[in-house]
Amino acid sequence: MLTHYLLQMEISLRSVRDSTLTLTLLNLFLLLHGVSSDTEFEISVPTGVQMGVYGEAVHLSCVFPVSGSWDADSSMITWLHNQEVVHSFFHSQDQPQYQSQTYANRTSLFHQEMKKGNASLRLDRTTLEDAGEYTCSVSTRLVSQSKSFPLKVAAFYSEPRLKISLLDNGHMEVLVTSEGGFPSPSLQWLMGNSRDVTNHTHTQLSKDHHTGLYSVNSKLILNGTVNSSITFIMKNPDLDQTIRRNIDLFSGEFIKTTRPREVH
Ligand SMILES: *[C@@H]1O[C@H](CO)[C@@H](O)[C@H](O)[C@H]1NC(C)=O
Ligand SMILES: *[C@@H]1O[C@H](CO)[C@@H](O)[C@H](O)[C@H]1NC(C)=O
Ligand SMILES: *[C@@H]1O[C@H](CO)[C@@H](O)[C@H](O)[C@H]1NC(C)=O
Ligand SMILES: *[C@@H]1O[C@H](CO)[C@@H](O)[C@H](O)[C@H]1NC(C)=O
Ligand SMILES: *[C@@H]1O[C@H](CO)[C@@H](O)[C@H](O)[C@H]1NC(C)=O
Repeated sequence: MLTHYLLQMEISLRSVRDSTLTLTLLNLFLLLHGVSSDTEFEISVPTGVQMGVYGEAVHLSCVFPVSGSWDADSSMITWLHNQEVVHSFFHSQDQPQYQSQTYANRTSLFHQEMKKGNASLRLDRTTLEDAGEYTCSVSTRLVSQSKSFPLKVAAFYSEPRLKISLLDNGHMEVLVTSEGGFPSPSLQWLMGNSRDVTNHTHTQLSKDHHTGLYSVNSKLILNGTVNSSITFIMKNPDLDQTIRRNIDLFSGEFIKTTRPREVH
């Protein structure tokens, strides 16, 4: 439809003698041309929730179409988290003075990739506060577009420590502790590889006020002598982390513990 309209304009341009009118029509032509490329300019960001790992770098992807050459001088790339500026780029350079202090020295764009339409952001040393909605904006001389997607941040739980104690009353206490994870884990205790004894355990979760990460300790009290294997399973589903530990107890005396297995 637009092509048809432009064709008609070209025809009318040819028949126009007055140079001022020709110029006006040419301007209109350019304007319409700008509008038509606007509809083709579509930036792409991830469609689903992105996952960042606490303390590590995360790449937030944003791609835009480049027709012809990329003019860094007249273009602008802005990354926002909620209303805060995460990273700002214009006049061909990063503009850290506009960035929120929370992100100082932690962000970078891939300058070499920009001309290929890559506005992806690298965020270093991810914290739990970095979770939330991210918006990528790309503006060129003619067009501008923003798109958002959510980022979740999770942390791996440390390899658990195991402590087995014989209590004065003849009972046995099996204690497992693990630190530095997020969000709260799911825990399961099994006896003899099948009987779920999670309801007989006592679990405590504590939060580090500085990092927001959790420490967990879980305790199973056994009635006197036990001749069975015990399995402890801790999961952090956000990171597909599963920690599983088997403990073999023979006749009340714990003779061996199997090697821990950790699956990320
Ligand atoms: C960022 O790095 C500069 C130079 O190394 C330093 O002066 C500044 O304190 C750092 N800012 C933050 C928030 O770490
Ligand atoms: C953007 O550039 C980074 C760094 O080279 C790369 O890892 C990423 O895959 C690029 N993204 C796209 C969509 O090409
Ligand atoms: C544990 O307790 C909850 C609530 O008391 C109950 O719904 C669940 O079935 C119990 N699980 C087992 C394995 O006994
Ligand atoms: C220990 O004994 C109590 C009471 O006899 C019982 O309710 C509980 O289920 C036992 N614990 C385990 C882990 O078997
Ligand atoms: C403990 O279990 C093992 C294997 O299941 C068995 O050979 C042993 O006799 C048991 N010991 C006692 C005291 O029941």
